[in-house]
Amino acid sequence: MKRKVVSVLLSAAMATTILAGCGSSASTTASAPASEAAPAASEAASTTADAASTAADDATAAAADGITRATAEAVPDSIEADTSLADKKVGVCIYQFSDNFMTLFRQKLQEDLVAMGFKEENITFADGANDQGTQTGQIDNFIADQVDVLIINPVNSSSAATITDKVVAANIPLVYINREPDEAEETRWATEGLNVCYVGCDARQSGTMQGEIIADLGIDTIDKNGNGQVDYIMIEGDPENVDAKYRTEFSVKAVQDAGLEVNELDDEVGNWDQATAQGLVANALASHPETEVVFCNNDAMGLGALQAIQAAGKTVNEDIYLVGVDALTEALEDIKAGTYTGTVFNDHLSQAYNTALAAKNFLDGTGNAQYIGCDYVKVTTDNVDDIMASVQ
Ligand code: GAL
Repeated sequence: MKRKVVSVLLSAAMATTILAGCGSSASTTASAPASEAAPAASEAASTTADAASTAADDATAAAADGITRATAEAVPDSIEADTSLADKKVGVCIYQFSDNFMTLFRQKLQEDLVAMGFKEENITFADGANDQGTQTGQIDNFIADQVDVLIINPVNSSSAATITDKVVAANIPLVYINREPDEAEETRWATEGLNVCYVGCDARQSGTMQGEIIADLGIDTIDKNGNGQVDYIMIEGDPENVDAKYRTEFSVKAVQDAGLEVNELDDEVGNWDQATAQGLVANALASHPETEVVFCNNDAMGLGALQAIQAAGKTVNEDIYLVGVDALTEALEDIKAGTYTGTVFNDHLSQAYNTALAAKNFLDGTGNAQYIGCDYVKVTTDNVDDIMASVQ
């Protein structure tokens, strides 16, 4: 039931990612020529401008880089258990258990793996504690333990090539999640025919949606000091992470693309963390009381920003605007209460299901596309009730 609400919300965005024959099944998504992809992308552009540029970019890239891209499968109302998975061992490495979003993802992944037929006692989650050395040790242990499949949310995406080498050498299929390895690495999976894939969303889309939420307010609403510009501060996640890089870049780009002038007052690294962001935004507002918009790369930092904004005696949606990403419950409640301008739903339900499915597909010989993409959904007061109903 809940899932149906999300399906409706996602349907428009999904249309934009039906690329190059990437239909419902990852296994049947062998690349199609770019000429076939183009009409799908341009058709989508007419209905959902939001994600169309991302879709079009991907369609072009698919032909050039050899990476096979598939659209994530819709999450079914109920998952059918496959008894052949009952004795398979799964190792899951999470970059840091204390991360709010990865906690939601991790809990759902555990549920979906079990629903798919893996036994709870055969699934082990390891906390990388935000340290690549620690995580590498955990990967070595999983290999020594002869797990049947590995799911890895790397601490450093730049370590992916090294991780892939050792996991592939041990003949273990590998599903990367949340922190996307770079294009050269994904291309290698394709050209070398490795049993390795990535499940996640395109961070450019989330940045674009953040920027659109702000641009849609209009310059007359935003521009409190009348200088004709959007005066903003940016709070970034971990800079090693492509999500932080793209959200920072594409949020501002979307505001500019809408014809608004921007003026960056401050840009700080909050490492996805609420308390860190609270301190950074408090300082930034003290130096720049003229701030009109606070962009945060995620909601945890957005919630910290909100505390700092309130402590500075400012009111969101009256004299300052605030956007995040993830759709954490608290952020949704704040949107509903009018104290948070908007967020972007980072669909952990879809990502968790498609990760569990990718693990199964490697084990039963179905195989996977190298890139399995989920879509983000823009969240404002217009649809916050629907999103709340679907995630709770
Ligand atoms: C992002 C998410 C952040 C944080 C990060 C960790 O996708 O928006 O909140 O969880 O992943 O890599």
